[in-house]
Amino acid sequence: MNKKNIQLDYKVKIKKIIELNEHYYDHSKPLVSDAEYDELKEKIILLEKKYSFLKDKNSPSNQVGFRPSKNFKKVLHKIPMLSLANAFSKEDLENFKKKIINYLDLEKNFNIEFSAEPKIDGISASLIYQNRKFITGLSRGDGKEGEDITKNLKTIKDIPINIIEKDFPDEIDIRGEVFIQNDDFQILSDKFSNPRNAASGSLRQKNPEETKKIPLKFIAYTYGYAKKLNIKSQSEFLLKLNKWGFKTNQYNKTFNTIDDLIKNYLDLEKKRGNLNFDIDGVVYKVNDFNLQNRLGHVANSPRWAIAHKFSAIKGVSQILDIEIQIGRTGALTPVAKIKPINIGGVIVSNASLHNEDEINRKDIRISDTVIVERAGDVIPHIVSVDKKKRPQNSKKFIFPSKCPSCGSKTVKDFNNITKKK
Ligand code: IVH
Repeated sequence: MNKKNIQLDYKVKIKKIIELNEHYYDHSKPLVSDAEYDELKEKIILLEKKYSFLKDKNSPSNQVGFRPSKNFKKVLHKIPMLSLANAFSKEDLENFKKKIINYLDLEKNFNIEFSAEPKIDGISASLIYQNRKFITGLSRGDGKEGEDITKNLKTIKDIPINIIEKDFPDEIDIRGEVFIQNDDFQILSDKFSNPRNAASGSLRQKNPEETKKIPLKFIAYTYGYAKKLNIKSQSEFLLKLNKWGFKTNQYNKTFNTIDDLIKNYLDLEKKRGNLNFDIDGVVYKVNDFNLQNRLGHVANSPRWAIAHKFSAIKGVSQILDIEIQIGRTGALTPVAKIKPINIGGVIVSNASLHNEDEINRKDIRISDTVIVERAGDVIPHIVSVDKKKRPQNSKKFIFPSKCPSCGSKTVKDFNNITKKK
């Protein structure tokens, strides 16, 4: 490929990621699976590494999250909310450790302790406390500037408004993840495609009374700005968080070797399907705060932490039929009956199609060959259609205009959360 074509290919990828970001962050409705998003992000970063002339302000290497929404007041984070680099293999982890040792100029076999924390797939938030009182709560936004979602965050029971403990710093931003448990998500599953979008959509309601109806949870795991915080390590900080009244993840642990990190990762991957919250990997942090400070960060992620992502489990199957299920609220949910396949040890014969719009957008038809993804405990979904394998006589799927149960005319609901019909 010549320079012009490389640039063109890069621009197309950047345009695509802007579109994906907009749907993900502004409308809480992702167009593709997380794995596909990560793949595109990786490709862009690889291109930039290979060809130094490629640059774009919208590149994921410059951005953390996305611009804040227009609905809320914008507030600068005192300390930016960074993102994490991803690791997918043992080699990636070895490189991560090697770079740390090199940067700190330590002996090759220096013992580094890591805090390993399940990476909950939710929405991060920063809670500003002054004089042991919760004052302002921000979303991550673009990492530098967040949205003021204080009123919505105050509806979450896991977030303490007043801290009683005397050793709580005079000023601190407690950071963590807002999420929705899988069992609580069931009642919202006809409105959102997964628990993460349900959490994001609920958190960004204009009216906090609407947020209050949704059982959101909060788990704390780090801090931004802190005045006089006399703590030496991440594991000590996590214990303090508990003492101060915050929830932390029960599966947080510390390890000294990469082999142990991997054992723990495989163990969590096995548990993943039975947990009541979605996790998409494990976050590793250098445990010692002193070393963390010396390591600092690159443009948008710290040198002392990395996210070891689980691979999304996918399979290829064929749609045998599309059934319309009737929810408790009378909502009609289309479900694809697929040729049973084994995805990561689980036999899958149903895949969610979410709603009519999803079917139209992906142009999903009976007899189509499709890629099915299973993540955690949620019902598997259709990632994409292989249109090359589509039979010639295939017909567009028409959503029923009458309820299959009672025969009355179907209506498209106005969704109070997504603000869409
Ligand atoms: S630490 C600079 N710890 O992962 C440190 N993040 O891509 C960044 N996340 O935005 C945060 N669990 O939404 C941290 N135990 C954990 C986490 C965690 C989930 C999310 C968080 C962050 C994203 C990083």
